[in-house]
Formats: sequence, structure tokens, C-alpha cells
Amino acid sequence: MNNKPAILGGKPIFDELLSITRPSLPELEEIKSQLEDTFTSGILTNGKYVVEFEQRCAEYLGVENAIAVSSATTGLILVEKALGLNGEVIMPSFTFTATCLSLNWNNLETIYIDCQPETFTLNPILVEKAIAANTCAILAVCIFGNPPDMEILDNLAKDYRLKLIFDSAHGFGTKYKDRLIGGFGDAEVFSLTPTKPLTAGEGGLITTNDKDLAQKLRLMRNYGVESDYDCELIGLNARMLEFSAILGLKNLSTIEEKINHRNNLAQNYKTRLSKLPGIEFQEINEGCRSTFKDFAILIDEAAFGLNRNELALALEKENIQTRQYFSPPVHLQKAYRHFYPKYKEELTNTLKISSNILCLPISGEMKIEELEKVCEAIYQIHRFSDEIRRKKLGEQLLVSR
Ligand SMILES: Cc1ncc(COP(=O)(O)O)c(C=O)c1O
Repeated sequence: MNNKPAILGGKPIFDELLSITRPSLPELEEIKSQLEDTFTSGILTNGKYVVEFEQRCAEYLGVENAIAVSSATTGLILVEKALGLNGEVIMPSFTFTATCLSLNWNNLETIYIDCQPETFTLNPILVEKAIAANTCAILAVCIFGNPPDMEILDNLAKDYRLKLIFDSAHGFGTKYKDRLIGGFGDAEVFSLTPTKPLTAGEGGLITTNDKDLAQKLRLMRNYGVESDYDCELIGLNARMLEFSAILGLKNLSTIEEKINHRNNLAQNYKTRLSKLPGIEFQEINEGCRSTFKDFAILIDEAAFGLNRNELALALEKENIQTRQYFSPPVHLQKAYRHFYPKYKEELTNTLKISSNILCLPISGEMKIEELEKVCEAIYQIHRFSDEIRRKKLGEQLLVSR
């Protein structure tokens, strides 16, 4: 790239939009016979593919029970309900809205805790400080595939007799200290949407080593009804489609390959971008493996020459899609800010990360040449940052006239 950045009138580095992510899909031929089987039998839910998907996921993750559901959101809502939570739940504000709304659907109070500046995960020291008489659970989140401090949180939950749930929506394939996650806490919940490391189209997976909880959840994902219409528990319709299970099963067979690829891409991004000033990276907890569901960078405006929003705009002009996850953080979102007075601490790290974060394209399908071009574009934008600034200031002056 030796022309000017597209924001200054140069030719965009990509002719067509490079999406932030691309789902991993098998060839249609590879799942055609199973799809035909489903069409012929007419069994679209509560069928054998969901059962097989659950068994294979449980084997892969090394957990006793896996319960397939329609989404991670419904999975979280069901787990919290099945555990009979009542009172306050401690959670991070640096997360996606679904973590929080699952608690609201269960009429639970949310206590937001700051995250750690390096790993972006929940700070266990602050969790312990926030535990009060009416705390009933901790809901920790795997951020972009980086696991929180699961053992420390486990010990805390045991010491204070709290329930512990992991929102592992980003973490199918994450390792905590060399062990695949899935069996930590009372339950974990994974998401299987198209942006996730393992996709089933749409869907979620609850995992737990608690047999009774698993039994309850199987009932609750089906309204709370067993085989007759005498409803035993209050549940939801949160069943997974057979089509999703077929796709999930096929993708499960390549999950290790895809996660290794994501890790290689992340390493490559770091090597290239660390040569530039003003770019920091999320640190992965020691001895852990991230899925790199997202690859996040933090922009230090003074050192890089542009702020996060300006860089995002300049990349958009290059036909490179980026995302600002999670900005705003949950506690500042319209639906949740009225809970603010309940906070016990300023969420300083959360605010700083949310204001400076930018997620770059990554997926199990991304080509290394695409990554090289993204990095090249960032280099060039940095090189011309003064000119971009002047142009932007000029535009602002024109607008304000
Ligand atoms: C941290 C987190 N939790 C929960 C969810 C909800 O997952 P789903 O879309 O499967 O309901 C998401 C979705 O991206 C997420 O990012």
C-alpha cells in the first residue's frame, strides 16, 4: 500500500468489505444426507441429532452433561431460574447485554464490578469486596474467549456459599490452565451463533457436572413439561432445532483446527501491530488458551495519533469492518443506567477499555493475506494520522459554520 489512506482520497485497500467475522460452514454436500434425513422423517426438534450433538460436546469438553438450547441468552435465563437464585448477583459491566438481561428476566439485582485492565475479565478481589448478605451468585464472563480467574472465583463461591455461573458464550474451545472449560462452577453457558468459534447457526449449550440440575434444565427448555401437559416447572421454549445440531456436529469435527488458526492469526496481529506506538492488546490469562472469538486492540490516542473512533472510521473507508465491543458497557446502556446508584465502585478500567477498544476482523476462515492487508492499512493510517486529523478538524469547522 503506497497510496494515501482512503479517508484522504486514496484507493481502499479492499475492493469489497472485509467483514469482522465469517462463520465456518461445511460444504453443503457434507451435511446433505443428514438434512435429507430430517426432511424425510419430519422430526425437526427433540430428535436424534440434538442428542448426538449434546453427547459429542460433552465428550469434547470433558463434562458430564451438555444441554442444547435455542441461544445462550435462554440458557442463562434457564440456569439462573433452575438454581433458584434470589437476591443480588455480582457480574462485570464489561460484557454483552445478554449477560445482564438474563438476570433482569429473573428479577435479580445486578451488582456491577470492574474488570482487570490487562485481561478485561472480572476482578476477583473486587468481587469479594462486593459480597453482601443478600448476594446469591457470581456471574463471570469469558471475554472474547479469555477465561476469567475460574479457580479463584470457584474458591470464593465455595467460601461464601454462592452459586457460580460462567457466561462462556465466547469460550467454546477455551482452555483454563490446560483444561477445556465447560465443567467449572455450577454451570457454564456457550453461544453458538454465527460469530462464535463453534456455530450451529443459532443456539446455545449449557454444561454442568450436576446431574440433578441437568435433568431440571432438560425439562425447563421444553416449557417445563415432560411428556404430558401437566407442567412440572416453569420453563421456556428454548429447544434447539435439528438443523442447528447437524451444523454444530459437523463444525465440532474441525473446532481444534479453527481455534489453532485463530490463535495463529492473533499472534500474527500482535507481532505486526506491536511495532506501532499506541496499540495495546488484551492479555490472555497465564496458562490459558483463548478462542479469540474477537481480536481486540486498545488505542492510546496520544501515542497513535488518532483515537479509536477515528481509526474505526479510517478503516471503514478501507472497506474493513471493525466493532467496538463492549461500548458502552452495560451499566451505561439506556436500559440499565437507572441501576447506577447501586454501584459500590467506580468502574474505571471498564470505562477506559470501553472508550479505547476496537475489535479487528478475525475468524476461523480469515486468510493471512487479509490480516496482512488490515495491518498495512493501520500502518498507513498511523503514518498519515496528522493529515487525517487536520482533514477531520477542517470538516468539523465546515460543519460548525
Ligand atoms: C458475553 C455474551 N453473553 C451472552 C451472549 C448471548 O448469546 P446468544 O446470542 O446465543 O443468546 C452473547 C452474544 O454474543 C455474548 O457476547
